[in-house]
Amino acid sequence: MAHKFNVKDMHRLDSPERRKMLPPEETLIKAGLKKNDIFIDIGCGIGYFSIPASLIVGSKGKVFALDTSSEMLEELERRIYENKIKNINPILSESYKFPLGPNSGTFALISNVLHEVEDKLSFLMETNRVLLVEGTLFIIEWQKKETERGPPLEDRLSESEIENQLEKTNFKLINSFPIGDFFSAYISKKISR
Ligand SMILES: C[S@@+](CC[C@H](N)C(=O)[O-])C[C@H]1O[C@@H](n2cnc3c(N)ncnc32)[C@H](O)[C@@H]1O
Repeated sequence: MAHKFNVKDMHRLDSPERRKMLPPEETLIKAGLKKNDIFIDIGCGIGYFSIPASLIVGSKGKVFALDTSSEMLEELERRIYENKIKNINPILSESYKFPLGPNSGTFALISNVLHEVEDKLSFLMETNRVLLVEGTLFIIEWQKKETERGPPLEDRLSESEIENQLEKTNFKLINSFPIGDFFSAYISKKISR
């Protein structure tokens, strides 16, 4: 069984330390998120990326924030209200069936979620379904090395495992790069269904 993030630790998803290790706005801009994009944040948690994404895509863009945890979504809703945000739609999702139509988004993010998912191919095929052809898939994962915090080493994904799964689910890897000392970023494009 893959290690699951404990919802009781949700405060850890937004701390000054995390903002330094994984600066959300800067990371999204570097990955190519832009004004008017339709952004799908799969496993959004408390909205660490959804909230800065809502500012980047602007009032003509949109954010679909999906999670399987209603507690995470409640915290996101609190933050949306507090920040008077109008363009984020929080959605309670099933693990392998997202409540969105085909070709719904131009840009999807899977940040620190893939290592938690048992059936990664079904999850990535479902991600493929909700993205437009040529849409961007941005994956952020813990690097596969021992660190004091983060998921156990055996659950972490190597670069070649991620590349292999992307290929099997009809994504073309365009670029990958480290983010600080702990995370890796993978940018790919949907090539077909
Ligand atoms: C470690 S948190 C990361 C949250 C956020 N992406 C971030 O980087 O701050 C993982 C989140 O993924 C959610 N999750 C796990 N499996 C999921 C799935 N199959 N579909 C949607 N959400 C999922 C969990 O409920 C949790 O909120």
